[in-house]
Amino acid sequence: MSTTSTTESSPGSVALHQQLWRVAQALQGIRDGRSGTAVLEQVPAHWRPGVQALLFQVLRSLGRAQALRALLATKTPAPAVDALLCTALALVWDSAQAPYTPFTLVNQAVEAARRHGLQRQAGFINACLRRFLRESAALVAQTDGDAQARYNHPRWWVDKLRQQYPEHWQAILEANNRPAPMALRVNARQCRVADYLQQLQAQGIAAQPWGEHGVQLAQPLPVQRLPGFAQGMVSVQDGAAQLAAPLLLQGLSLPAQARILDACAAPGGKTAHLLEMLPLGQAKVYALEVDAIRSQRITETLQRLHLQEDAQVLVADAAQVDAWWPQVAQGMPAVADGGLDAILLDAPCSASGIVRRHPDVRWLRRPSDIAQLARQQERLLQALWPLLKPGGRLLYCTCSVFKEEGQWQVEAFVARNKNAQYLPAPGHLLPGAASVPDNPSGDHDGFFYALLQKTKAPSSAAHACG
Ligand SMILES: C[S@@+](CC[C@H](N)C(=O)[O-])C[C@H]1O[C@@H](n2cnc3c(N)ncnc32)[C@H](O)[C@@H]1O
Repeated sequence: MSTTSTTESSPGSVALHQQLWRVAQALQGIRDGRSGTAVLEQVPAHWRPGVQALLFQVLRSLGRAQALRALLATKTPAPAVDALLCTALALVWDSAQAPYTPFTLVNQAVEAARRHGLQRQAGFINACLRRFLRESAALVAQTDGDAQARYNHPRWWVDKLRQQYPEHWQAILEANNRPAPMALRVNARQCRVADYLQQLQAQGIAAQPWGEHGVQLAQPLPVQRLPGFAQGMVSVQDGAAQLAAPLLLQGLSLPAQARILDACAAPGGKTAHLLEMLPLGQAKVYALEVDAIRSQRITETLQRLHLQEDAQVLVADAAQVDAWWPQVAQGMPAVADGGLDAILLDAPCSASGIVRRHPDVRWLRRPSDIAQLARQQERLLQALWPLLKPGGRLLYCTCSVFKEEGQWQVEAFVARNKNAQYLPAPGHLLPGAASVPDNPSGDHDGFFYALLQKTKAPSSAAHACG
């Protein structure tokens, strides 16, 4: 079987069968454990927007498509055939959402098989899809009882949300299957939100203010079309992620030459927001990142936003404090208990809160990942806490809705560390306004925030998280 298209096309002339083949290949890559970002990087740049749009739609309907495929073909076909069949079924099963007419999709999926060395299997794909078109209502109804098909998330994921959010689990799953809005953060060192909104309006771009430094666009746009993007006036950042810097800094009195650590910093969105909020020269922000390649993105972010002056990028495992602490502690007055004024720990997590933007995530994670990530988060929290000054603050956050990575993680930490005290913070935020459906400003990703203060004496007044 050939894996490359027989006729590559020029921009603007991509036939649907070519796109479907690319989407099916991308799906196969994700099934083999590669991320959506990695598989899309293999797609020629001029094809990418179209392929990505179809792939995301497929991933948001994959549970349904797989259940339908199991009804249409009891024996699992070869991976390439199965991926193409599931791609077509995911796009065609709900005719109201289908991006092309069902007959066009079926014809083009069969054409894709024929053109890529699957001549023999093309007849089988044709027969399955045409049977689906004839019997779609009955076949879809047969899959309705299967939670994976109904909610398009793995069963274990549905079960976990059902247990942890008895009131909101369906709203979370439904929100996860909708595309996310595009949100921007205005660089407070360069521009006010009201002025940026005027600039957008002058360009005919509809938008509304969001939170303290944010703007939400009515329609997503390529960043090149955003006024002032190249000059660093604005960054793309979801509304929930924009809460981190204000939560950490507001009400915190910083001494001259304060030191702030962003412990898991790449690609640098929250590092940049901290710097944008701080007057020039007030504090040094250390951006720590374990992945050297990803750390380059922090540097690029800070350069575009003109924020390098008060920042230092370090490459190290944040939990291996001995490896990087001497670079931060240089010239610091000797302190008995840490020396940092504030720490942001945006810990590695399952990303279960951002599946609207990364619909591959749910299909890549395994149930055992959650406990393993929770251990990593615990290790980071425990290693960093001693570095905080008494009276200093640590903001712990994850882009996860799972309580093992949020509320339960922090409750266990506070129980172990008697000098940790809760300050007000939102706790678990649910995606797409899942918990506040009438509030349009609640349309953000799923996230978790806990803000902890180090007391001088052991705390006796810890209250419930969130
Ligand atoms: C959720 S992302 C951070 C996003 C970032 N705060 C932002 O707003 O742009 C987590 C980052 O932590 C990094 N990371 C994971 N384990 C780490 C560790 N032990 N020490 C430092 N960085 C780590 C990952 O490579 C990843 O870049």
